[in-house]
Amino acid sequence: MNPKTPLLDELDIAPMAPADIEEILAIEHQAFSNPWTRRAFLGALGPDSYALVARYEGQVAGYGIAWIRPRELHIVNLAVHKDLRRKGIASALIQRLLRVARQKSLQRAVLEVRISNAPAAALYESHGFERIALDRGYYLNPPEDAVVMMKDLRDDNGKGEPGRKLSDRRISRSGPFWHRPWLWFRRLR
Ligand SMILES: CC(C)(COP(=O)(O)OP(=O)(O)OC[C@H]1O[C@@H](n2cnc3c(N)ncnc32)[C@H](O)[C@@H]1OP(=O)(O)O)[C@@H](O)C(=O)NCCC(=O)NCCS
Repeated sequence: MNPKTPLLDELDIAPMAPADIEEILAIEHQAFSNPWTRRAFLGALGPDSYALVARYEGQVAGYGIAWIRPRELHIVNLAVHKDLRRKGIASALIQRLLRVARQKSLQRAVLEVRISNAPAAALYESHGFERIALDRGYYLNPPEDAVVMMKDLRDDNGKGEPGRKLSDRRISRSGPFWHRPWLWFRRLR
């Protein structure tokens, strides 16, 4: 039996609410050197975002937040309680975020990850994200480059459109910022 199954069976994933933020902030401070503030989380509860919280045994175990853009889902925050990692919780959150993106017929999902954050990059790669660009100096505290990762949702959105190879896409891996519209949004982390 998959050892992750018992926990995942009991995982409750629901839209984030203001009452969750206290517990979320505790995880956020564990997980990041430049944590989001309460205000940033409250701002993520608006109509242009999709914010999820995963609960296990009544406690917040993890959360994921994405901005919904006209063509893309931009995953901007994802973390799991340090005692509950490697049990599939982040994967369950990503799958739920991607499901919403497909329901909205979005074309792609994008995100940034610190170049040193190998666990997160491995997680995203395990969900089919590809490294498409390096954004120099994207992060502060400590300063660090971001790897930009993308998953093309047209490959599997059920609309029958043929999948495209990365090399077919009209996306510049190293071109200027304005060639990479998914980087135009406000940078929070
Ligand atoms: C990154 C993070 C969200 C992963 O959460 P998680 O619930 O442990 O991830 P999952 O259990 O769903 O992992 C799924 C897969 O991702 C990869 N992965 C996850 N953590 C990994 C690690 N520490 N080392 C290597 N691969 C890892 C593995 O392929 C894993 O599958 P496996 O366990 O069957 O090998 C969690 O470590 C975390 O909160 N880190 C701090 C915050 C952070 O970096 N967020 C991402 C910002 S971009």
